[in-house]
Amino acid sequence: MAGPHVGGPGAALRRDQFAFGPLEEGEALVEPILGAWEANVDHALARSPIDVCSSRGENTVVLGNTGVVRVLKVNAESRDVRAREGALCLLLPFGRTDRFGYAELAYAYDEPGTIGLLAKQSKMDVRLLLPVPEDTAYSLPQWAAYGRYFTAWDNWHKAYGCWRTQVADDDPANHLVFGWGGGVAFAELMLAKRAGFRVAMTAGSDERIAFLRENGITAVDRRRFPALSLPTREERTDRDRHQQRRTSLAAFRDLVNELSDGYGVAIFVDNIGEPLYDVTLGALAREGVVATCGWKAGMRLSHLRGAECIKRHLLVNTHVWRLPDSPGIRDFQEAEGWIAPKGSTVIYDFDRVPELADDYTNGRIGSYFPMYRVNPL
Ligand SMILES: NC(=O)c1ccc[n+]([C@@H]2O[C@H](COP(=O)([O-])OP(=O)(O)OC[C@H]3O[C@@H](n4cnc5c(N)ncnc54)[C@H](OP(=O)(O)O)[C@@H]3O)[C@@H](O)[C@H]2O)c1
Repeated sequence: MAGPHVGGPGAALRRDQFAFGPLEEGEALVEPILGAWEANVDHALARSPIDVCSSRGENTVVLGNTGVVRVLKVNAESRDVRAREGALCLLLPFGRTDRFGYAELAYAYDEPGTIGLLAKQSKMDVRLLLPVPEDTAYSLPQWAAYGRYFTAWDNWHKAYGCWRTQVADDDPANHLVFGWGGGVAFAELMLAKRAGFRVAMTAGSDERIAFLRENGITAVDRRRFPALSLPTREERTDRDRHQQRRTSLAAFRDLVNELSDGYGVAIFVDNIGEPLYDVTLGALAREGVVATCGWKAGMRLSHLRGAECIKRHLLVNTHVWRLPDSPGIRDFQEAEGWIAPKGSTVIYDFDRVPELADDYTNGRIGSYFPMYRVNPL
């Protein structure tokens, strides 16, 4: 992406020559194979909530921070390197980490000087390259969706752990985990299902509803609740809109009650945020947890602290995962088959990346795991 732009997100992308210096100690030359299209790329193109070019102090940024690369050359003699030349590796999107290994800045996003996967060749820190298991049972596109899975892993374990501090020994089968749409929520609900919870999630298309059902998740068609989001600023004086919202809210609450024996949602995976936050809290059971790592539709939230305290609601905020946890999460994916289902990804060729950007922003992609191919395998 470069310079100011007009038009859709695809128009912010520019194909160009990008020069980088020689390999320094601790770096590898790589050839990106597949890159996952995630909301952070969309945020960068929209220059909101931050302008990554300004925050990095750079005019041009090569985006793309999760995906699979082939290692061409390693310059890291003094290090114990996991990534050998020729290996296929997952890029771990960590820029600056805190003292416990959690991400403060993201690679190829707000960490200055980092080069992402939207380039035919790139160079990166070898510590960020995690080999795909040899003889894996899964395809490369299935692996390339790992970013949403690794994020979900971390968010789920924190949310479940918090829930258990208050509901120590009740059977999860008595409790509902509910998610607003998205690939992270999908991956998280698949973990909740493994843990024995009832699981349900909203989706906005027939294709997604069928996909959720195929994967054992109760699919909730959000077109049944067309006015659930908070009215926009322009709609605030529209009395009909408020009445429509009351109708959608009542229907949604009936549904949650039906799925939870009237108790409400035990763990609510909410990566949508602002326009639905009051609905999320209203649907939450006593001792319920809101689990979030995203703010797709707005990040300024407010709630009534007294009500939240009395209901003993916990709010779990996470971001990315812990870098040292990465090999363990990958090994769990391989061993347990908790990975993007076969055939669930959609791949755009490199030339079609601007089209992918526009399709993603405008909700035209049926898959939860859109990606782009940079080089052939
Ligand atoms: N902090 C982190 O480490 C991290 C990592 C990954 C993702 N995230 C964040 O998490 C959020 C979700 O990401 P994702 O990759 O799971 O999903 P995503 O690709 O961003 O898709 C979100 C889905 O939510 C649904 N949706 C959108 N607006 C909605 C609304 N107003 N009401 C209800 N549903 C709505 C849509 O699905 P339907 O139309 O099918 O309902 C949409 O496809 C993003 O904001 C992303 O930035 C954060």
